[in-house]
Amino acid sequence: MSAVPSLRHLLLLRPRLRFIALSTSSSPFLSYAPSHHFSPSSLRVLSSSSSPTLTQEEADEAVGKGSSLIDVNPPRGTRDFPPDDMRLRNWLFQNFREVSRILSFEEVDFPVLESEALFIRKAGEEITQQLYNFEDKGGRRVVLRPEITPSLARLVIKQGKSVSLPLKWFTIGQCWRYERMTRGRRREHYQWNMDIFGVSKVRGEAELIQAIVLLFERLGINSSDVGIRVSSRKVLQAVLQMYAIPDNLFTQVCVIVDKLGKITREEIEKELLSLGVSIQAVNGIIEVLSLKSLSKLEEVLGSEEEAVSELKKLFSLAESYGYADWICFDASVVRGLAYYTGIVFEAFDREGKLRAICGGGRYDRLLSTFGSEDIPACGFGFGDAVIVELLKDKGLLPDLAHRVDDIVFPLDEVLDGTASRIASSLRKKGRSVDLVEDKRLKWVFKHAERIGASRLILVGNSEWERGAVRVKNLSTREEFEVKIDELV
Ligand code: HAM
Repeated sequence: MSAVPSLRHLLLLRPRLRFIALSTSSSPFLSYAPSHHFSPSSLRVLSSSSSPTLTQEEADEAVGKGSSLIDVNPPRGTRDFPPDDMRLRNWLFQNFREVSRILSFEEVDFPVLESEALFIRKAGEEITQQLYNFEDKGGRRVVLRPEITPSLARLVIKQGKSVSLPLKWFTIGQCWRYERMTRGRRREHYQWNMDIFGVSKVRGEAELIQAIVLLFERLGINSSDVGIRVSSRKVLQAVLQMYAIPDNLFTQVCVIVDKLGKITREEIEKELLSLGVSIQAVNGIIEVLSLKSLSKLEEVLGSEEEAVSELKKLFSLAESYGYADWICFDASVVRGLAYYTGIVFEAFDREGKLRAICGGGRYDRLLSTFGSEDIPACGFGFGDAVIVELLKDKGLLPDLAHRVDDIVFPLDEVLDGTASRIASSLRKKGRSVDLVEDKRLKWVFKHAERIGASRLILVGNSEWERGAVRVKNLSTREEFEVKIDELV
């Protein structure tokens, strides 16, 4: 069976195949573009079939009759990565890896499919309502992970006493959330995570923030483009204590007040009141969360308060690291995840056009929620989508054309073997070589330009009789005859 019918066969075996994209845009970074760029009008309904599984013969016959083609778009909110987008993704990930290496973090990885139990939390977080969860064929409840922190905690628990603390790990992995799609928010995204276990002091957070700043600087982003808002959950904890609100309501209160600015104040009030928080406390909480200066916070909570002393320490460390101009205190940063216990932070674009670029904080009590002994921990997650939107807006996307060193082109079919030997020997020396055949010389020149080749190696009969090839340097346009054993 030839490759083409078998591919068609596969496509046809899928029921309800409705759309074909007419857009053949070759624009780079298509996958990183927000999904609403694909307007419904760019889709042509070919047919709506709910055909059951077809036999090979039926499929071939259907193809012959011009039957419907599968929807060629990936599921809503997910992306393909054609070469241009893949280059961009790899470039971004290399920067993630490089910064992690510079900070002496080790790379780890986890399955994208995790046990659902790891992600069941009762604080009413949005993330738990967005789970891609299902039962596998063995009847186990599983999820496509929406974040990586619980997997990290699972591995730390699993490794037990064999891990030496402090432990500094990073990972880059795909996460799934059934999100309402907005610019930079999708149903699948990659997250770079850096986490530290075993450091209880704010040195941990200070290191993490340096990593984030180093990453921005490597990408050409400066502190006038992006800032990092910092606060501490201990601020809210202190306010709850002032109003004698029981500790067991802390997490739920955090999750509710994180919605400030996203839903109305009345709705927040309503949710807090229904938890049993008094109206005086609600007003007190909202008032404190509006504070934007550390000295004001100190006035309200007193200098003895842990939230205040830790934040002051972090801001003083930021001066020493040299990134103080990137960070600002903003008591409204609470973060929507239940497990944070201390300092929390989020990077934002100063023009205010995009959602949070990254976010993290301290989570000293996550392990005990999984039945293990707690270890102080902090970390952050940095997605691949918002940052690309920002780079696009700022004109900072890198030029990442496909590049090869050499094109080897036999001018005569009888020289196929010779061309293979030459390509193979150059590749063994580490050069990237595109071996081209069955094309006209004019096409080869155009192709060389398109892929930015630096040399064109023409394998012709007369040169070959002299044990040589013609080498054209494509940047200088010079051409030489080079002996095969001198070709490097
Ligand atoms: P998070 O704030 O939910 O935190 O996500 C971290 C980052 O992941 C966001 O700031 C954003 O860059 C990216 N992100 C999240 N959801 C989406 C989405 N639907 N589409 C595109 N990007 C998205 C966490 O996940 C924590 N587990 C981070 C952490 C690690 N805290 C401690 N260690």
